Amino acid sequence: MNALNRDLNRLVRHFEQEDRAKVAADPRRLRFHLMPPVGWMNDPNGLCWYNGNYHVFYQYSPFNANRGVIFWGHWTSPDLLHWTQQPVPLCPDQPWNLHGVYSGSALVEEDALYLYYTGSVKFAGEYDFINNGRGSSTALAITRDGIHVDSNQVLLENKDYPADLSCHVRDPKVWKQDGRYYMVLGARTKDSVGEVLVYESEDKLHWKHINTLKTPEPFGYMWECPDLFCVDGQYILSMSPQGVSRQGNHFQNVYSCGYFPLNGDFRGAYTLGDYTEADVGFDYYAPQTFEAPDGRRIVIGWMGMPDAEYTNPTANESGWQHAMSVPRELHWNGERITAVPVRELEQLHTNHRTVAFNGTTRETLAEGADIQITNDSLHLHVMLGDGAVIEYGDGLLTLTLTEASGCGRTQRVAETEQLRNLRILKDTSSLELFLNDGEQVMSTRFYPQRADTLLLGGQGKAEIYDMKAMEFTYLAE
Ligand code: FRU
Repeated sequence: MNALNRDLNRLVRHFEQEDRAKVAADPRRLRFHLMPPVGWMNDPNGLCWYNGNYHVFYQYSPFNANRGVIFWGHWTSPDLLHWTQQPVPLCPDQPWNLHGVYSGSALVEEDALYLYYTGSVKFAGEYDFINNGRGSSTALAITRDGIHVDSNQVLLENKDYPADLSCHVRDPKVWKQDGRYYMVLGARTKDSVGEVLVYESEDKLHWKHINTLKTPEPFGYMWECPDLFCVDGQYILSMSPQGVSRQGNHFQNVYSCGYFPLNGDFRGAYTLGDYTEADVGFDYYAPQTFEAPDGRRIVIGWMGMPDAEYTNPTANESGWQHAMSVPRELHWNGERITAVPVRELEQLHTNHRTVAFNGTTRETLAEGADIQITNDSLHLHVMLGDGAVIEYGDGLLTLTLTEASGCGRTQRVAETEQLRNLRILKDTSSLELFLNDGEQVMSTRFYPQRADTLLLGGQGKAEIYDMKAMEFTYLAE
């Protein structure tokens, strides 16, 4: 690798060593979620199984917990439970990625791991940085050992994309199918309409634009982080659209993320079904899926929200910000995707108790908890310490964060005619709610003073587990 790459790697290690002790001392560090070692994390990238390990690459800014120049960070794990930090594989060290090694994906081949990503550059000068002044290159880095990058090259530049596009084209997701390679790219047209470009290649290097996936009517101005996959026989186009305004209880966040069932052929004639939000909590964006070695379709999302008004106090107080959702297994139930925590997480269970409740019951909770509630009535009331209240009734599930714990987060609502069950994964500063076996999910960060009690009101049964912490091994100090 080039000299700049070596120097940047050293610089990252230096920052990590300087800041690790302060970050590690923060009681809000999560126990079973991936976080940046220091600094800032956003989208998951390059999710895959390669060489006997799961790989989670991610958007990483080690120098600035409020987001600075973006590298790729890297965690590996043989089992989704024991995680090892790896050196930054991609640095902004090339003319085409100087202002950020942006999101992308991994293609697993026998000889190597192919990392496709977007190299971002903002040119100096008076530009709007939408239709001019921004370089978004599709690039490929190849690593044989899955850790160290052997080569890095540009495949497509702005001039190679369709002529009606703005400079916002990014986030390649690549896969192999029928002996060929396919790539989807998120895009914004010059008229500010979001869409997804489909490319095809025979050799992984030369790519041809073969189709564009879009809605009949504009749906937001930019589609970020597209993904196209098949689960239980149904093709899904997933993406994170920007510019979709709130409609009642839908699109409550500044940006959405969700999916369309895709019928027909993504390479030719297709139709998109109704859009469904992947998560209706405060903090979930830019999810990416991959296939586990046993064939499961697993998704991990960024447990954050860009440009939101709410905040995370860890950034300024402890020098780190953001985390990933837990990995979730996806299925298609004929109408929608269901997402539930991967079964590996059950290995973190300890101290199991069963609580039948009729009226109000109070339980003690550990810092990490998995609460699986079967609901037998039309109403349910759950209170987690002084941090959050979950209320179900009249077809609405409402998650309310208290003023102190929400840091600007207030209330989110999920519409559900029936609530058969509710699973709550609580970590020190995050909550993930799975409604009706994962038909809907709500993910949020929260910062309670105390969340060591659980109040259950209504009628039903709860299986409660404490959650042991995952093991995170950091690079040698
Ligand atoms: C989504 C996103 C991507 C981009 C990356 C940059 O959160 O904006 O579109 O590649 O983050 O960090």
